[in-house]
Amino acid sequence: MSLLPIIVAPDPRLKKIATPVKQVDDAVRRLMEDMLETMYQAPGIGLAAPQVGVSKRIIVLDVSRDEEPAAPYRMVNPEVTAASDDVTVYEEGCLSLPSHYSEVERPSWITVSYLDETGMSRTLEAEGMLATCIQHEIDHLDGVLFVDHISRVKRSMILRKLTKAKKTGCLPDVPSPTPAL
Ligand code: NI
Repeated sequence: MSLLPIIVAPDPRLKKIATPVKQVDDAVRRLMEDMLETMYQAPGIGLAAPQVGVSKRIIVLDVSRDEEPAAPYRMVNPEVTAASDDVTVYEEGCLSLPSHYSEVERPSWITVSYLDETGMSRTLEAEGMLATCIQHEIDHLDGVLFVDHISRVKRSMILRKLTKAKKTGCLPDVPSPTPAL
């Protein structure tokens, strides 16, 4: 397994629509293990393939708390097939937008279908943090970042700060108050 570099916004690779995976093979499985290792090390609770420069519809996540056993999900071609009218607001972060957080409103529960690491088709009903995280990661596959859900003023402020930080080479590396997705 190996750690993969995480792309920081703004970057055109984060705005691309990722392509579906045709077959869940060893290369896909290896990528998912590397993504999980990268996510845990960051630390974060979710990571999408475009964030590590791979434009494929693959996400990994683990929203278990520190004291709980690890509960990783590996999802290939995930798709939301149903969503509640009820919405929940979470303060979201993102490994591609380090040190920036904002409240985002999303459906409280969803049904998601995907292929697991064996290529088997699965359906999951998710709510709470799990539902938020899955929706956030699927957004990445469509070139959407959490800042695209907030006001334009706040979005440009965050992206301006990150552009400056990347230029000066001093991207913040501080422990996050809330987990990054
Ligand atoms: Ni993210």
